[in-house]
Amino acid sequence: MAVNSLARYLARLGYGSRKEAEAMLRARRVTQPDGQVLREGSAFAHDAVLVDGAPLDPPPGSVVLLHKPVGYVCSTQDRPPLVYELLPPRFAQRDPVMATVGRLDADTSGLLLLTDDGALNHRLTSPRTHLPKVYLAQLDTLPAADALQQLREGGLMLRGETTALAPAGVESCGERVVRVTLTEGRYHQVRRMFAAVGAHVQALHREAFGPLTLGELQAGQWRALSENEVVQLRESARRLPAAAER
Ligand code: URA
Repeated sequence: MAVNSLARYLARLGYGSRKEAEAMLRARRVTQPDGQVLREGSAFAHDAVLVDGAPLDPPPGSVVLLHKPVGYVCSTQDRPPLVYELLPPRFAQRDPVMATVGRLDADTSGLLLLTDDGALNHRLTSPRTHLPKVYLAQLDTLPAADALQQLREGGLMLRGETTALAPAGVESCGERVVRVTLTEGRYHQVRRMFAAVGAHVQALHREAFGPLTLGELQAGQWRALSENEVVQLRESARRLPAAAER
């Protein structure tokens, strides 16, 4: 973001309206790490700005990884609890907003990305970007081997859809637990896939999104991706050649 007004920069990061940010500056609440007060018109670097003594939220163009707990909704204005309650309150006020990259159902836990980079968000969620997403599903009953094979091979038509499912990775890893790798992102896909072969998903958790995993992050915690991680994510989201597209 090419912004040389500190008040405008703070406003776009969700610290308030432009007027409120100007008032924060006049109130000497915005400083450098050495305590020097920053004013409107001061030269500034993102990492060297503190508001009320705290570092700024991640800069424009950031990607944030949240370990979404069960029960939270991926929306800025649905019925609470919303995933934004787990993040700095400014995230939903940013311009552009720090938006979720696709959604996880309220009943699904695991790896959720958010970004204020609209183009990257679009690329990551485009049906033409076959980024693998890995889920662990607890089922009420393990479908027969041929049904699991059908999911692996693709071709199943879900109710209300006009294109058949792409092949999915389906690996049994417990009595009624399966690890599912999808390269597409249809509405409630894992739950609907298993419903189509007679099983109910009792619990669902996303373990990985492209090259990213949750690592040590506990449910409810978040962190900003490093620049290197964002580069890797962008690389892995490069579109497949046209011939490979479905
Ligand atoms: N599939 C689902 O059924 N739900 C999710 O949240 C993600 C994938």
